[in-house]
Amino acid sequence: MTGTSKVALAFSGGLDTTVCVPLLEEEYDYDEVIGVTVDVGQPAEEFAEAEETAEALDLDHYVVDAKAEFAEQCLDSVAANATYQGYPLGTALARPVIADAILEVAEDEDCGGIAHGCTGKGNDQLRFEAVWRDSDLEVIAPVRELGLTREWEMEYAAEKDLPVEGGNEGDWSIDTNLWSRSVEGAKLEDPGYVPPEDIYEWTETPGGKGVETVEIAFEEGKPVAVDGEELPPVQLIEYLNDLAGSHGVGRTDMMEDRMLGLKVRENYEHPAATTLLNAHEALEGLVLTKEERDFKAQVDDQWAQKAYEGLLSAPLVDALDGFVDATQGKVTGTVTVKFEGGQARPVGRESDYAVYSESAASFNTESVDGIAQEDATGVAKYHGFQSRLANEVAADAEAKKAELLADGSGDEGEEEQ
Ligand code: ARG
Repeated sequence: MTGTSKVALAFSGGLDTTVCVPLLEEEYDYDEVIGVTVDVGQPAEEFAEAEETAEALDLDHYVVDAKAEFAEQCLDSVAANATYQGYPLGTALARPVIADAILEVAEDEDCGGIAHGCTGKGNDQLRFEAVWRDSDLEVIAPVRELGLTREWEMEYAAEKDLPVEGGNEGDWSIDTNLWSRSVEGAKLEDPGYVPPEDIYEWTETPGGKGVETVEIAFEEGKPVAVDGEELPPVQLIEYLNDLAGSHGVGRTDMMEDRMLGLKVRENYEHPAATTLLNAHEALEGLVLTKEERDFKAQVDDQWAQKAYEGLLSAPLVDALDGFVDATQGKVTGTVTVKFEGGQARPVGRESDYAVYSESAASFNTESVDGIAQEDATGVAKYHGFQSRLANEVAADAEAKKAELLADGSGDEGEEEQ
């Protein structure tokens, strides 16, 4: 199908991407497949699996470390308070980072094509291809294009003696990175099925560990330290995943509306994300004006939508980022978060930028900046004036209408007699 003989494949060592290797040669006429696994914070076992499978397939295999870049992206999402229908977007934020890293390898290796193992039902095919279709490479999705089913893949793998340990992938389909762990598929597809405790790996059953507080320091919207200890993004996220996870913080069980319109049942774990998002929003509550907070909620929502779509490269997002950045200079300070009952609840916040005057808000002071309590009397008289007037006018108009109707029906009655 193409003259160039090399193709780069997003490779995890799972069933889908493993069967893609021979298929890219047989069905798409490539001479050589290059497997690329991008590190965005998956557990070590996943790299071991990818490495092992690649070796067994005699596949040229790259592992690209994109953890630091991905962690920065996660913290940018905190500045935008980004969640989609309650989900902190781990998979969604990771895909463009992964796609970029694979594209770079593909271009360095002079590949003619670039491939992923996604099916035609999910979001990831769209997120990968949004990046790749900006290149000259042939974009290939064998599982989707050849209409493969899991059953067919298992049979094909057995026939070809491919290194897939049948059933060894466990009951669930799992996607893990620094920001979240997603668990889906099998029995969990039934929205009514209550998940067993053992689907959770990052979070303990809430309530087992007692209560603990942490202090998170932010600089210009970015978390920089926990309990006074400065940590770079990757370590900060890992630390909070462990700590908040031990308190059972950050479980989400939800119905998610995918981009193609399908509603799916999803389960997530995201202890660090929940902790940082809650803390960040609490600090914004202290330092931003009401107008800024109200408008930012709309900006944040749009930002999260584009992040879910894997389209943070959209021009709209540059404009949204302009607003987010303009507000974040003031989001500097500390937030105390209490881990209790599976929640990460902000219980204290401090900032030099606090739009807060204790003397103005306190019940114990008489006048502030020359404004005394009784000055509110005039405001209180006006408050609700328009609503009172509108209700009065409506009542008068109704009464008038009823009167006219009563007169009219009286006339009619007389005529009939
Ligand atoms: N539905 C989520 C998303 O589109 C995550 C899917 C993760 N995949 C998985 N196999 N668990 O962002």
